[in-house]
Amino acid sequence: MDDPEETSKSAESFWAQTISPTGKAWMLGILALCFVSQTYLVYSDPTPTRVLVGEELAGRRVWLANNCQACHQLYGFGGFLGPDLTNAASRLQKPQLADRLALGKGQMPKFDLPEDDVTALWEFLSAMNETGIGQARNPVRAGVSANGIPSNSPSTLAVQKILKASGDQGAISGFEIYRSYTCVGCHVLFGESAIGAPDLSLSGLRLSAQEIQSKLEMGVPPLMPPSGLSAEKRAQVQAFITFLGEHREEALALVEESTDDAFWDNLPWWEF
Ligand code: HEC
Ligand code: HEC
Repeated sequence: MDDPEETSKSAESFWAQTISPTGKAWMLGILALCFVSQTYLVYSDPTPTRVLVGEELAGRRVWLANNCQACHQLYGFGGFLGPDLTNAASRLQKPQLADRLALGKGQMPKFDLPEDDVTALWEFLSAMNETGIGQARNPVRAGVSANGIPSNSPSTLAVQKILKASGDQGAISGFEIYRSYTCVGCHVLFGESAIGAPDLSLSGLRLSAQEIQSKLEMGVPPLMPPSGLSAEKRAQVQAFITFLGEHREEALALVEESTDDAFWDNLPWWEF
């Protein structure tokens, strides 16, 4: 065993012998230079910075309060159901933003916002547009389905298998609506999502059919928008959610069994 005192002594003499005082001065000099040039590069970054003020700040609050980031990205950060909106203000005019919010489109839900909020959102998106070019990520190229949600996840496959075996047409239609509609932008199967949308299989156990249908009709303010679905479709989605609750254990057992490494291999890095 080495005597620690001796080891530290021999380390000291190593430095004393192999590096001359001029050598040490040079090393110190190079370190200082690295620090100075790093500092220079960081503070001379030519990307224009922009502090949000007034309406723009209010717009950011509306953006967060209504969960736009669950489906949209700014500079590539956010959900993938809808497009990156960093430069939306260069593609759209304010009336088009107002229309999109009031009417929804495809997988984008309607938002019944006061005019002040729409104006603030417009100011916020215009300010974002002035800060640079947002690089939209392309989930399709990364091997996930068009809406950015992996279509072959173990939980999706498990639910599909159990639904098929049951022959429950209402729940099967409900699942198709759930999968192709806004829901997957915020909810994940058998887990609470990062934005706090609950595990719907637990809701299926806890809530009555009537309660679920009314939440789909009215939304759960402020984070869950009204679904905008017809009464018939709301009933189908509710049948699916109730089904999820009733078959929760069975589905989780199937997920546990699945050793589908190919799924994890195909997942883009940001989904981990
Ligand atoms: C549940 C997901 C979801 C949420 C939440 C959501 N959007 Fe969208 N949004 C979409 C999808 C999907 C599209 C693309 C619709 C299409 O063209 O079919 C879209 C399109 C848009 C567009 C048009 C973009 C373009 O380049 O044409 C704007 C603007 C927009 N959304 C703004 C918002 C704002 C502001 C919020 C928050 C108040 C919001 N969205 C919330 C899913 C969502
Ligand atoms: C923009 C994000 C978003 C979208 C889109 C969305 N939800 Fe939600 N949902 C939430 C959040 C967040 C909650 C929890 C709200 C709360 O309790 O304050 C919620 C709550 C619910 C509840 C009540 C759950 C409970 O246990 O009380 C149901 C049912 C539900 N969502 C179903 C759906 C369905 C079906 C869709 C598609 C038609 C959908 N949601 C679309 C975010 C979303």
